[in-house]
Amino acid sequence: MTARLVVLASGHGSNLQAVLDACAGGDLDAQVVGVSGDRADAYALERARSRGIDAVAVTRESGEDRRHYDQRLADTVATWHPDWIVLAGFMRLLSTQFLDRFPHRVLNVHPALPGELPGVGAIERAYDQARTGLRTHTGVMVHLVPDEGVDSGPVIMSEMVPIGPTDTLAELEVRMHAVEHRLLIAALAVLTGQT
Ligand code: GAR
Repeated sequence: MTARLVVLASGHGSNLQAVLDACAGGDLDAQVVGVSGDRADAYALERARSRGIDAVAVTRESGEDRRHYDQRLADTVATWHPDWIVLAGFMRLLSTQFLDRFPHRVLNVHPALPGELPGVGAIERAYDQARTGLRTHTGVMVHLVPDEGVDSGPVIMSEMVPIGPTDTLAELEVRMHAVEHRLLIAALAVLTGQT
């Protein structure tokens, strides 16, 4: 059965695009049934709409507490009846108000190896550490999101990405994003029983 995916994204949406392309190209037997995020100006929403996919920003109202926001976001996501919810550059921490609505059904892509560099700016931080001789590689992981931990949870797939001594940050970012896109599709194939 074709899996129903909802993607949450806050920004550029290149991981969303990788999922859309894999679905359209037949590399993944899945369908993106809705896209949401916390920013109305996220380019990810445009990417979805240009493919005719429902895209709804759920922005935080002034003074709204996190749990109330998460409940509203979950209400929107639930209207699409997803099998899986993909956090693809969604830059807010989800509380149990959201996660308990979709147990074992939320996954996240993060540009670091398991247990390393949680939070924003993981690629830049890895690059800075490499420049000062503290590391020679970083990586990418796709993991389930069982609780309110930051970029942590059961790992579905991870892959090491070397940082060369002459790499620029831009070069590392291009290499990291290519790995993210490939790993995310591979992880979705596993989760949806296609491998
Ligand atoms: C990606 O690098 C993703 O791994 C990262 O945000 C970027 C989104 O790019 N996510 C995190 O750092 C989660 N903590 P995209 O909007 O082009 O997909």
